[in-house]
Amino acid sequence: MAGAYDDRDGFIWLDGEMVNWRDANVHILTHAMHYASSVFEGERAYNGKIFKSREHSERLRRSAEMIDFQIPWTVDEIEAAKVEVLAKSGLSDAYVRAIAWRGAGEDMGVASARNPVRLAIAAWEWGAYYGDAKMKGAKLDISKWKRPSPETIPSHAKAAGLYMICTMSKHAAEAKGCSDAMMFDYRGYVAEATGANIFFVKDGEVHTPDPDCFLNGITRQTVVGMLKEKGITVHERHIMPEELEGFEQCWLTGTAAEVTPVGQIGDFNFEVGALTRDIAESYEKLVRV
Ligand SMILES: Cc1ncc(COP(=O)(O)O)c(C=O)c1O
Repeated sequence: MAGAYDDRDGFIWLDGEMVNWRDANVHILTHAMHYASSVFEGERAYNGKIFKSREHSERLRRSAEMIDFQIPWTVDEIEAAKVEVLAKSGLSDAYVRAIAWRGAGEDMGVASARNPVRLAIAAWEWGAYYGDAKMKGAKLDISKWKRPSPETIPSHAKAAGLYMICTMSKHAAEAKGCSDAMMFDYRGYVAEATGANIFFVKDGEVHTPDPDCFLNGITRQTVVGMLKEKGITVHERHIMPEELEGFEQCWLTGTAAEVTPVGQIGDFNFEVGALTRDIAESYEKLVRV
Protein backbone atom coordinates (compact mmCIF):
# COMPACT_ATOMS: atom_id res chain seq x y z
CA MET A 1 0.00 0.00 0.00
CA ALA A 2 1.42 3.37 -0.97
CA GLY A 3 0.66 6.59 -2.80
CA ALA A 4 -1.77 9.39 -2.00
CA TYR A 5 -3.70 8.84 1.19
CA ASP A 6 -7.06 8.95 -0.61
CA ASP A 7 -6.00 6.48 -3.29
CA ARG A 8 -5.05 3.23 -1.61
CA ASP A 9 -6.30 -0.30 -1.33
CA GLY A 10 -7.86 -1.41 1.93
CA PHE A 11 -10.67 -0.50 4.28
CA ILE A 12 -11.54 2.30 6.66
CA TRP A 13 -13.98 2.04 9.55
CA LEU A 14 -16.55 4.82 9.07
CA ASP A 15 -19.48 5.34 11.45
CA GLY A 16 -19.69 1.66 12.32
CA GLU A 17 -19.03 0.12 8.93
CA MET A 18 -15.99 -0.99 6.99
CA VAL A 19 -15.90 0.92 3.72
CA ASN A 20 -13.51 0.69 0.80
CA TRP A 21 -10.54 2.99 1.40
CA ARG A 22 -11.30 5.15 -1.65
CA ASP A 23 -14.97 5.55 -0.64
CA ALA A 24 -14.29 6.90 2.87
CA ASN A 25 -15.27 10.45 1.87
CA VAL A 26 -17.15 13.40 3.39
CA HIS A 27 -19.20 16.21 1.86
CA ILE A 28 -17.52 19.57 1.20
CA LEU A 29 -19.99 21.25 3.58
CA THR A 30 -18.77 19.17 6.52
CA HIS A 31 -18.67 21.49 9.55
CA ALA A 32 -15.18 20.33 10.58
CA MET A 33 -13.72 21.35 7.21
CA HIS A 34 -14.73 24.95 7.81
CA TYR A 35 -14.43 25.40 11.57
CA ALA A 36 -11.89 22.78 12.74
CA SER A 37 -14.50 20.92 14.79
CA SER A 38 -12.55 17.69 14.89
CA VAL A 39 -10.37 15.70 17.28
CA PHE A 40 -8.10 12.80 16.52
CA GLU A 41 -5.64 10.22 17.83
CA GLY A 42 -2.34 8.93 16.53
CA GLU A 43 -1.57 5.43 17.77
CA ARG A 44 0.94 2.74 16.94
CA ALA A 45 0.47 -1.00 16.87
CA TYR A 46 3.47 -3.21 17.53
CA ASN A 47 3.29 -6.97 16.89
CA GLY A 48 -0.45 -6.66 16.26
CA LYS A 49 -1.29 -4.77 19.46
CA ILE A 50 -1.91 -1.04 19.84
CA PHE A 51 0.31 0.40 22.54
CA LYS A 52 -1.82 2.06 25.28
CA SER A 53 -4.87 1.66 23.07
CA ARG A 54 -7.43 2.32 25.77
CA GLU A 55 -5.68 5.54 26.90
CA HIS A 56 -5.89 6.79 23.32
CA SER A 57 -9.61 5.98 23.03
CA GLU A 58 -10.26 7.69 26.35
CA ARG A 59 -8.29 10.76 25.26
CA LEU A 60 -10.23 10.90 22.00
CA ARG A 61 -13.51 11.07 23.88
CA ARG A 62 -12.08 13.63 26.34
CA SER A 63 -10.75 15.81 23.50
CA ALA A 64 -14.22 15.82 21.91
CA GLU A 65 -15.80 16.88 25.21
CA MET A 66 -13.22 19.66 25.52
CA ILE A 67 -14.32 21.08 22.16
CA ASP A 68 -17.97 20.62 23.02
CA PHE A 69 -19.19 17.42 21.41
CA GLN A 70 -19.82 13.84 22.44
CA ILE A 71 -18.62 10.92 20.37
CA PRO A 72 -21.58 8.56 19.94
CA TRP A 73 -19.38 5.51 20.59
CA THR A 74 -18.15 4.22 23.94
CA VAL A 75 -14.50 3.53 24.70
CA ASP A 76 -15.23 -0.21 24.43
CA GLU A 77 -16.84 0.28 21.02
CA ILE A 78 -13.90 2.37 19.80
CA GLU A 79 -11.53 -0.32 21.09
CA ALA A 80 -13.42 -3.03 19.20
CA ALA A 81 -13.43 -0.93 16.03
CA LYS A 82 -9.66 -0.43 16.21
CA VAL A 83 -9.11 -4.18 16.61
CA GLU A 84 -11.29 -4.76 13.54
CA VAL A 85 -9.40 -2.14 11.50
CA LEU A 86 -6.04 -3.58 12.42
CA ALA A 87 -7.13 -7.15 11.62
CA LYS A 88 -8.60 -6.07 8.29
CA SER A 89 -5.39 -4.19 7.39
CA GLY A 90 -3.31 -7.33 7.79
CA LEU A 91 -0.58 -5.21 9.39
CA SER A 92 1.10 -6.09 12.65
CA ASP A 93 3.13 -2.87 12.93
CA ALA A 94 0.95 0.07 11.96
CA TYR A 95 0.00 3.64 12.64
CA VAL A 96 -3.66 3.97 13.61
CA ARG A 97 -5.60 7.20 13.13
CA ALA A 98 -8.98 7.69 14.76
CA ILE A 99 -10.79 10.92 13.97
CA ALA A 100 -14.12 12.31 15.18
CA TRP A 101 -15.77 15.38 13.70
CA ARG A 102 -18.90 17.40 13.32
CA GLY A 103 -20.30 16.36 9.98
CA ALA A 104 -22.57 17.99 7.44
CA GLY A 105 -26.13 18.60 8.57
CA GLU A 106 -28.72 21.24 9.34
CA ASP A 107 -26.13 23.81 10.40
CA MET A 108 -23.49 25.55 8.33
CA GLY A 109 -22.76 28.49 10.64
CA VAL A 110 -20.31 28.51 13.51
CA ALA A 111 -22.78 26.76 15.83
CA SER A 112 -23.43 23.19 14.78
CA ALA A 113 -25.30 21.42 17.56
CA ARG A 114 -27.67 19.81 15.05
CA ASN A 115 -25.01 18.20 12.88
CA PRO A 116 -24.12 14.54 13.37
CA VAL A 117 -20.83 13.63 15.05
CA ARG A 118 -18.94 11.13 12.96
CA LEU A 119 -16.05 8.78 13.64
CA ALA A 120 -13.54 7.10 11.35
CA ILE A 121 -10.55 4.83 11.96
CA ALA A 122 -7.79 3.97 9.49
CA ALA A 123 -4.51 2.08 9.79
CA TRP A 124 -1.44 2.20 7.58
CA GLU A 125 2.27 1.48 7.59
CA TRP A 126 4.36 4.35 8.91
CA GLY A 127 8.08 4.03 9.65
CA ALA A 128 10.31 6.37 11.68
CA TYR A 129 8.64 9.79 11.87
CA TYR A 130 11.91 11.69 11.51
CA GLY A 131 13.63 9.25 9.14
CA ASP A 132 17.30 8.72 9.95
CA ALA A 133 17.22 11.57 12.50
CA LYS A 134 16.25 8.77 14.84
CA MET A 135 19.90 7.68 14.90
CA LYS A 136 21.81 10.91 14.24
CA GLY A 137 19.72 13.35 16.23
CA ALA A 138 17.06 15.55 14.70
CA LYS A 139 17.73 19.16 13.77
CA LEU A 140 15.01 21.50 15.05
CA ASP A 141 14.16 25.04 14.08
CA ILE A 142 12.68 27.45 16.64
CA SER A 143 9.13 28.38 15.70
CA LYS A 144 7.85 31.93 15.66
CA TRP A 145 4.47 30.59 16.80
CA LYS A 146 3.69 30.16 20.50
CA ARG A 147 1.60 27.46 22.16
CA PRO A 148 -1.58 29.24 23.25
CA SER A 149 -2.91 29.80 26.74
CA PRO A 150 -5.60 27.42 28.06
CA GLU A 151 -7.73 30.57 28.26
CA THR A 152 -7.40 31.02 24.48
CA ILE A 153 -8.18 27.48 23.31
CA PRO A 154 -8.62 24.07 25.00
CA SER A 155 -4.88 23.46 24.78
CA HIS A 156 -5.01 19.94 26.23
CA ALA A 157 -7.32 18.61 23.53
CA LYS A 158 -5.85 16.74 20.59
CA ALA A 159 -7.95 18.89 18.31
CA ALA A 160 -7.38 19.85 14.68
CA GLY A 161 -7.51 23.62 15.38
CA LEU A 162 -4.38 23.41 17.51
CA TYR A 163 -2.37 22.06 14.58
CA MET A 164 -2.67 25.09 12.30
CA ILE A 165 0.38 26.73 13.91
CA CYS A 166 2.15 23.36 13.97
CA THR A 167 1.80 22.91 10.22
CA MET A 168 3.09 26.45 9.58
CA SER A 169 5.99 25.92 12.00
CA LYS A 170 6.93 22.64 10.38
CA HIS A 171 6.81 24.07 6.87
CA ALA A 172 9.14 26.91 7.95
CA ALA A 173 11.45 24.37 9.63
CA GLU A 174 11.61 22.08 6.61
CA ALA A 175 12.39 25.05 4.36
CA LYS A 176 15.51 25.56 6.52
CA GLY A 177 16.52 21.89 6.30
CA CYS A 178 15.23 21.02 9.79
CA SER A 179 13.06 18.02 10.69
CA ASP A 180 10.76 19.91 13.03
CA ALA A 181 10.41 23.03 15.14
CA MET A 182 10.47 23.59 18.87
CA MET A 183 7.80 25.95 20.12
CA PHE A 184 7.75 28.27 23.12
CA ASP A 185 4.48 28.89 24.92
CA TYR A 186 2.54 32.14 25.30
CA ARG A 187 4.65 33.03 28.37
CA GLY A 188 7.94 32.35 26.61
CA TYR A 189 8.69 29.00 28.29
CA VAL A 190 9.97 26.02 26.30
CA ALA A 191 6.91 23.97 25.32
CA GLU A 192 7.19 21.14 22.79
CA ALA A 193 7.72 20.29 19.12
CA THR A 194 4.88 20.37 16.57
CA GLY A 195 3.81 16.79 17.27
CA ALA A 196 5.98 15.60 20.14
CA ASN A 197 7.00 16.46 23.70
CA ILE A 198 10.55 17.41 24.63
CA PHE A 199 13.06 16.29 27.28
CA PHE A 200 16.51 17.59 28.27
CA VAL A 201 19.40 16.12 30.25
CA LYS A 202 21.84 17.99 32.48
CA ASP A 203 24.20 16.52 35.08
CA GLY A 204 22.45 13.13 34.95
CA GLU A 205 19.02 14.60 35.66
CA VAL A 206 16.12 15.07 33.29
CA HIS A 207 14.15 18.25 32.74
CA THR A 208 10.90 18.45 30.79
CA PRO A 209 8.37 21.25 30.47
CA ASP A 210 5.34 21.15 32.72
CA PRO A 211 2.49 20.32 30.28
CA ASP A 212 0.19 23.05 31.56
CA CYS A 213 -0.71 24.46 28.12
CA PHE A 214 -0.09 21.58 25.70
CA LEU A 215 -0.69 17.87 25.32
CA ASN A 216 0.66 15.74 28.16
CA GLY A 217 1.55 13.00 25.68
CA ILE A 218 0.93 9.35 26.44
CA THR A 219 4.54 8.67 25.38
CA ARG A 220 5.73 11.53 27.60
CA GLN A 221 3.97 10.00 30.60
CA THR A 222 5.37 6.56 29.73
CA VAL A 223 8.93 7.93 29.48
CA VAL A 224 8.65 9.90 32.74
CA GLY A 225 7.57 6.62 34.39
CA MET A 226 10.48 4.71 32.81
CA LEU A 227 13.00 7.33 33.98
CA LYS A 228 11.66 7.25 37.54
CA GLU A 229 11.80 3.45 37.54
CA LYS A 230 15.46 3.71 36.55
CA GLY A 231 15.99 5.97 39.56
CA ILE A 232 16.61 9.08 37.45
CA THR A 233 15.41 12.41 38.82
CA VAL A 234 12.86 14.07 36.53
CA HIS A 235 12.06 17.76 36.91
CA GLU A 236 8.70 18.67 35.34
CA ARG A 237 8.86 22.43 35.41
CA HIS A 238 8.85 25.66 33.46
CA ILE A 239 12.01 25.89 31.34
CA MET A 240 13.38 29.26 30.26
CA PRO A 241 14.89 29.75 26.76
CA GLU A 242 18.24 30.78 28.35
CA GLU A 243 18.56 27.29 29.80
CA LEU A 244 18.84 25.64 26.37
CA GLU A 245 22.54 26.46 26.24
CA GLY A 246 23.28 24.43 29.39
CA PHE A 247 21.50 21.20 28.47
CA GLU A 248 23.69 18.32 27.28
CA GLN A 249 21.17 15.96 25.69
CA CYS A 250 17.70 16.31 24.27
CA TRP A 251 15.03 14.00 22.88
CA LEU A 252 11.45 14.12 21.65
CA THR A 253 8.66 11.74 22.60
CA GLY A 254 5.43 10.97 20.81
CA THR A 255 3.47 8.08 19.39
CA ALA A 256 4.73 8.85 15.89
CA ALA A 257 8.16 10.16 17.00
CA GLU A 258 8.62 7.39 19.63
CA VAL A 259 11.87 8.48 21.36
CA THR A 260 13.87 10.55 18.86
CA PRO A 261 17.23 12.08 19.83
CA VAL A 262 17.69 15.78 19.05
CA GLY A 263 21.11 17.01 17.89
CA GLN A 264 20.36 20.68 17.40
CA ILE A 265 17.73 23.32 18.24
CA GLY A 266 18.42 26.61 16.49
CA ASP A 267 22.05 27.42 17.42
CA PHE A 268 22.17 25.03 20.39
CA ASN A 269 23.80 21.62 20.03
CA PHE A 270 23.21 18.42 21.97
CA GLU A 271 25.00 15.09 22.02
CA VAL A 272 23.14 11.85 21.37
CA GLY A 273 24.30 10.57 24.74
CA ALA A 274 24.05 7.34 26.70
CA LEU A 275 20.85 8.23 28.55
CA THR A 276 19.08 9.26 25.33
CA ARG A 277 20.08 5.99 23.68
CA ASP A 278 19.09 3.99 26.75
CA ILE A 279 15.62 5.56 26.89
CA ALA A 280 15.07 5.09 23.16
CA GLU A 281 16.02 1.41 23.43
CA SER A 282 13.97 0.83 26.58
CA TYR A 283 10.94 2.40 24.92
CA GLU A 284 11.36 0.18 21.86
CA LYS A 285 11.41 -2.88 24.13
CA LEU A 286 8.45 -1.75 26.22
CA VAL A 287 6.09 -1.19 23.28
CA ARG A 288 6.70 -4.75 22.09
CA VAL A 289 6.11 -6.46 25.44
C1 LIG B 1 1.28 18.54 19.63
C2 LIG B 1 1.62 17.20 20.19
N1 LIG B 1 2.28 17.12 21.35
C3 LIG B 1 2.63 15.94 21.90
C4 LIG B 1 2.32 14.75 21.26
C5 LIG B 1 2.71 13.45 21.88
O1 LIG B 1 1.58 12.77 22.33
P1 LIG B 1 1.53 11.20 22.43
O2 LIG B 1 2.75 10.77 23.14
O3 LIG B 1 0.29 10.94 23.22
O4 LIG B 1 1.46 10.68 21.06
C6 LIG B 1 1.64 14.78 20.05
C7 LIG B 1 1.30 13.54 19.35
O5 LIG B 1 0.21 13.06 19.50
C8 LIG B 1 1.27 16.02 19.50
O6 LIG B 1 0.62 16.08 18.34
